[in-house]
Amino acid sequence: MPLSEWLLWLIAFAVLLAVAWMAARSWRNGISPMPASRAVRRLVIEEVNRISGYASIVEAGSGWGTMGLDVVRHCPGKRLTGIENSSIPLWCSQLLARLAVRSRTAGTEGGSLRGRVHFRRGDIYRHSYRDADIVLCYLYPGAMKQLEGKFRQELAHGATVISVCFAIPGRRPVRTLTCGDALRTKVYVYIY
Ligand SMILES: C[S@@+](CC[C@H](N)C(=O)[O-])C[C@H]1O[C@@H](n2cnc3c(N)ncnc32)[C@H](O)[C@@H]1O
Repeated sequence: MPLSEWLLWLIAFAVLLAVAWMAARSWRNGISPMPASRAVRRLVIEEVNRISGYASIVEAGSGWGTMGLDVVRHCPGKRLTGIENSSIPLWCSQLLARLAVRSRTAGTEGGSLRGRVHFRRGDIYRHSYRDADIVLCYLYPGAMKQLEGKFRQELAHGATVISVCFAIPGRRPVRTLTCGDALRTKVYVYIY
C-alpha cells in the first residue's frame, strides 16, 4: 500500500476515534457539545450588556468556546471563564481563545481580549460559583435541577444566571426572552 494511502487511513482512524471519544463523553454528560446559534448568542450578549461595568462570568459547559468568545468580544469590561470536561471541544476553545487574543488585541467592541477569556477543564457540578457575577448555561433539564441548589448556596446576592433553552426548576425567571430563530429558543434570566 502506498504511503499516501496509509496516511489517509490513519487520518480516517483518528477522526473516527475522536468522534467516538466525544460521543462517549456526551453520553456520560447527558448532552453533546452543540453550540448555541448566532441568534441565541446575540440575545445572550444583549442580556449580559444590561449589566454595566466589570463582571466576572462563568460559562458552565463552554463547549467549543463560540458563545464565551462572542460574549467577551461584545461585552466591555466582562471576564469569562468557561468550564468544560469534553477534551476535544475544550482544546478547540483554548486554541480559538489564543488566536482571538493574538489577532484582536485592540479595536473590538468589548476591548482587548487579553486576560479576559479562559477555558478550563472542570466539572460544572464541582466548580465553585462564589466569585461569579453572571453564570451562562446551555445544558439540559437534569443539569439545571442539579445546579439550582449549588447556585442557591454559592452565588452572591444579586448574581445573574442566563440559561439557554432550559429553565431552572422551581425558580421564577425575572425575564424570559424568545429568540427570533426558527426554533423560537427561550432564554431564561434569573437574579439570585
Ligand atoms: C449544549 S453545549 C453548550 C456549549 C456552549 N455553552 C454554547 O452555548 O455554545 C453543553 C456543554 O456542556 C458540557 N458539559 C455537560 N456536562 C458537563 C460537566 N459535568 N462538566 C463540564 N462540562 C459539561 C458539554 O460537554 C457541552 O460541551
